[in-house]
Amino acid sequence: MTKKQTAVFKIVLTGLDKDPRALLARSLRGLGHEISENLALEEALKLLGRTSYDLLVVDIDRLEMDLSDLLKTCKRTSKEAAIVLVGSGIEVETAFEAARLGAYKCLSKPIELERMLDVVDRALDGARLRREAGSVRQIVVGYRQADRFVVGKSDLMQKIAEVIEKVSASGASTVLIQGDSGTGKELVAKAIHFLGDTMDRPFMEINCSSLPENLLESELFGYEKGAFTDAKKSKQGLVELAEGGTLFLDEIGEMPLSLQSKLLRLIETKRFRRIGGVKDIEVSTRIMAATNRDLRKAKDQGKFRDDLYFRLMVIPIYVPALRERKEDIPILASFFIDYFNQELNRSVRGLSREAQEVTMEYDWPGNVRELRNVIERAILLESKDLILPEHLPSDLQRGRAAHGSIPGSSRAEGVPISLKEAERRAVAEALSWAGGNKSKAARALGITRQTLRQKLKAYGMVNKYPPG
Ligand SMILES: Nc1ncnc2c1ncn2[C@@H]1O[C@H](COP(=O)(O)OP(=O)(O)OP(=O)(O)O)[C@@H](O)[C@H]1O
Ligand SMILES: [Mg+2]
Repeated sequence: MTKKQTAVFKIVLTGLDKDPRALLARSLRGLGHEISENLALEEALKLLGRTSYDLLVVDIDRLEMDLSDLLKTCKRTSKEAAIVLVGSGIEVETAFEAARLGAYKCLSKPIELERMLDVVDRALDGARLRREAGSVRQIVVGYRQADRFVVGKSDLMQKIAEVIEKVSASGASTVLIQGDSGTGKELVAKAIHFLGDTMDRPFMEINCSSLPENLLESELFGYEKGAFTDAKKSKQGLVELAEGGTLFLDEIGEMPLSLQSKLLRLIETKRFRRIGGVKDIEVSTRIMAATNRDLRKAKDQGKFRDDLYFRLMVIPIYVPALRERKEDIPILASFFIDYFNQELNRSVRGLSREAQEVTMEYDWPGNVRELRNVIERAILLESKDLILPEHLPSDLQRGRAAHGSIPGSSRAEGVPISLKEAERRAVAEALSWAGGNKSKAARALGITRQTLRQKLKAYGMVNKYPPG
């Protein structure tokens, strides 16, 4: 598939049979990629460590090392390279294990070239995104779990990307992720888990608001046989099951006070007792908690323990609402368009200019989740060409009408508009008159270029008229 713009990627092929390798190498070179082939695995791994590669394709039929060692080594030497494995009759368990350890895909022989190129193309998505995101440094945190990415290019998301990488490398034992619903808290938690050494350890999650207190307690901490009437035999809780990995406590703000103290003890001593147990069990489970409530307020109201609050706040991550980082909208939209094109077998090219404006003007109360849903719906409505404003839900259009911010849009005559609105239009019109030339537009408006830039930022128009 050549649907995406051609970018040059570095690809290593190792262990493949001569003929299929030559064919694949030729086709990939034909697409403009740089290929290193004919390398022994050991050399390939060394190369991976020295130069930044985007993709490694390995034939595992005559593999001279343990597959999981191979994958772990790859991950250590090159965090970013995607890995595609090929082999004869790869068993489901092997494929599953490989995916768990970060392989992008396992393909069983015989492999048609077309299929292989398709998989390679998708496997390069992470690299492509990182590239597309531009020169703004670390913007996309791709973690090798079912090709998931934390996408963004705003300064705010860049900072989060840095924190994700630091925290995942540090093995820190508690993290609190705050942010409105749909901002990506769970995604951030998983990225921390799957980017670090914990990647091949369990990630267990539970929503603290979904169960009554006693059930939540037994789910978390487990119980001993006879602890209560129904306890016919002992059971491990999630704290134990997540040993060495992560326990993700969603909506921590809803955790009952009695359990909060038990959790605090676990965090501080790394020990806990099952319900009805008499001895402590030691664990090294990392606790990540998330909340879309103001936890400080809950603390001030006495609904959340002070000491637990401060313990969790050692590493706080705040995921901002989408409206606070509108410059992420286009890249997120294009990420979801690619994603749903693949999922739904469509070939939508993108958002029309108008539709993009609509997405930039809307407030996104449901945040990234809402954007994802909107794109999915639009792709269902429009299968091959551009997404137009009419493919977007009426909520978005209303936002637009309410803001009335589109120059030249059909608006009832004689309806008064606010000064701010008038200013926004004047700015948009001046820019369009000046063909996007900011100095010219600023002169026409009688303001400085600097002021114009501030106004563009304030009106979320930076994307339409990028700095320059
Ligand atoms: N930066 C991002 N890049 C790509 N996808 C994202 C990003 N942020 C969120 N998403 C996607 O948006 C959806 C919602 O994200 P997630 O479930 O992590 O949100 P949340 O903050 O946990 O929401 P809630 O508070 O409702 O539980 C998911 O499908 C997630 O993959
Ligand atoms: Mg969530």
